[in-house]
Amino acid sequence: MTTTTLDARYDAVHKTLDAVGQPHLLEHYASLDADAQAALLAQIEAIDWPEVARLIESHVKNKPSFELAGTIEPAPSYPKQPADDVQAEKYAEAYATGEKLLRNGKVAAFCVAGGQGTRLGWDGPKGTFPASPIREASLFQLFAEQLLKLRAKYGAVVPFYVMTSPINHEATVTFFEEHDFFGLGRDDVMVFPQAMMPAIDMTSFKCLLAGPGELALSPNGHGGSLKALHTSGAIADMKQRGIRQISYLQVDNPLVKVVDPLFVGLQELDDTQMSSKMLPKRDALEKVGNFALVDGKMSVIEYTNMPDDLAKQTDADGNLKFNGGSIAIHVIAVDFVAELNEGAQGFALPWNRAEKKVPYYDPDKGETVSPESPNAVKLETFVFDALPLCDGSFVLETAREEEFAPIKNASGAPGSGVQDSPDTSKQLQIDRAKRWLSNVGVLCEDGSVVELKPTTAVEPSDLERLDLPERIEAGSRVVI
Ligand code: UTP
Repeated sequence: MTTTTLDARYDAVHKTLDAVGQPHLLEHYASLDADAQAALLAQIEAIDWPEVARLIESHVKNKPSFELAGTIEPAPSYPKQPADDVQAEKYAEAYATGEKLLRNGKVAAFCVAGGQGTRLGWDGPKGTFPASPIREASLFQLFAEQLLKLRAKYGAVVPFYVMTSPINHEATVTFFEEHDFFGLGRDDVMVFPQAMMPAIDMTSFKCLLAGPGELALSPNGHGGSLKALHTSGAIADMKQRGIRQISYLQVDNPLVKVVDPLFVGLQELDDTQMSSKMLPKRDALEKVGNFALVDGKMSVIEYTNMPDDLAKQTDADGNLKFNGGSIAIHVIAVDFVAELNEGAQGFALPWNRAEKKVPYYDPDKGETVSPESPNAVKLETFVFDALPLCDGSFVLETAREEEFAPIKNASGAPGSGVQDSPDTSKQLQIDRAKRWLSNVGVLCEDGSVVELKPTTAVEPSDLERLDLPERIEAGSRVVI
C-alpha cells in the first residue's frame, strides 16, 4: 500500500521536475530506503517548482538589476521625543492606547528566528545563544521575560509566536520545552517553521543536493514570515484570540522592546497597517536599509540598491535627507497579513539573490563537498518589501542606545573592533542597565557590571518605587 502511494508520488514528482529541467534531483532515489524516499519526495513536493524555474531565469541566469523608478523622497518620521505640545498629547494618547490594547489582550509578539546565523557561527538556533552579560540568559529567555513582565503589568497574556525554519525547528521547540516555555505556558507560545527554497548552482543552474536523498535548501528569507504566519495557522489563532496588532522583532537584538505601547498605540490611532522603527543613520553609507517614499509609498531601499549620491544628499541645514535607517522592528496589523494571504490574487514579495558557499553532494566522490568560494544562489524575500503593499504606514524614530544591540558576528579578539558581536551587545546591555538605574538614583561605579532582568523592568519607569541598592561598587557584578 505504502509502496503504491510512494510510486504514485514519485511519478508525479518526476513529471514536475522534468517539466522544469531538474530531474537529476531523483538520480539517487532508487538507492534510498522507503523512509528516505518518502522524505525526499516530501521535500520536493513542498517547493513551488514553476516559481523556481521562473526565478532561475530571472535571478540565477541573470543578475536582476535594481532600478529606482518613480519619485523618491525621504520618508517622514515621528521624532524620538514629541516636537511640540500637540505631538506630546498625541504620544500620550498613543501610549495609553497601546497600554489598553495590552490590557485587553490585543497584542501578539512575533519573533522571526528562521535565519541560519552563519556569521555568528553558534551551534544551535540563534535564539538559544547566551546573550546577557552576567546570567548568560538566552535571547529567547530575555524575550520571554519581557513578556512575563508585560503580563504582570497589564494582567493579560501577550502570546508569543516564533518562526523557525525546518533546519532549526526541532532544536528550538526542544529548547522551549527544556525550559518549560520560560513560564509563559505552552498554550501561549506557538513555534512554526517557514518555507524553504532550493539553492541553485551558479554555473549549471541546477538545484543542488545536500546528500543523495536530500535537497540543499535554505529558508526563504524573513519575508517568508508573512506567508508562514498564515499557513501555520498563527493568524487564525490570533484572530480567535482577538489579537489586532503583531509586534515583529528579529531574534538577534536583546535590547528590542518586545512590545512598545507607544509604537503599537500609534499604529492603532493612525489606523495604519504596517509601521517601522528607525534609527538615524550613523553616516550616509551605513549598511542599513533606507526608509523612503517611492512614488508616495513607504518603502525600504536596501543599502546595496541605494545610489551613493542619493544616500549622501543633504538638506539646507546639512543633514542627511535619507537619514532613516531600518532596524527591522515593525508593528503589523493582523488584518493586513490576513488580507495579503486571503486576497483573490495572493501576493508576492520581490526575490533577492545572494551568492553563497553551499555544500553539495558530489556523486562521483560519494560525499558532500564544502566549496571554497560561492557556488550557488540563494533566494530570499524581505519583510520590509510588504511596506509598499499596505494602506498606511509610519516611521518612528528610536534611540540606538536604548533599543539596538544586535548580535550578528562572532566576537573578535579584544581590540579587534568587530561590531554587532556578543561582546558589543553585552556592553550596550550593561550601559543601558546602568543608565536606567542612575536615573532613579543608583550610583553605578565605573568598573561594575550590571544586568537588569526584563522581569524587573522593561522600561525605566518600572524601576521607580523598587527597593534598589544605593551604590553598585567598582568590580562588582550585580543582577537586579
Ligand atoms: P539575518 O539577515 O541576520 O540573517 O536575519 P541570519 O540568517 O540570521 O544570519 P546570517 O546572515 O546567516 O549571519 C535577520 C533576522 O531574520 C531572521 C533571522 O532569524 C533574524 O532574526 N530570518 C532570516 C528568518 O527568520 N528567516 C530567514 O530566512 C532569514
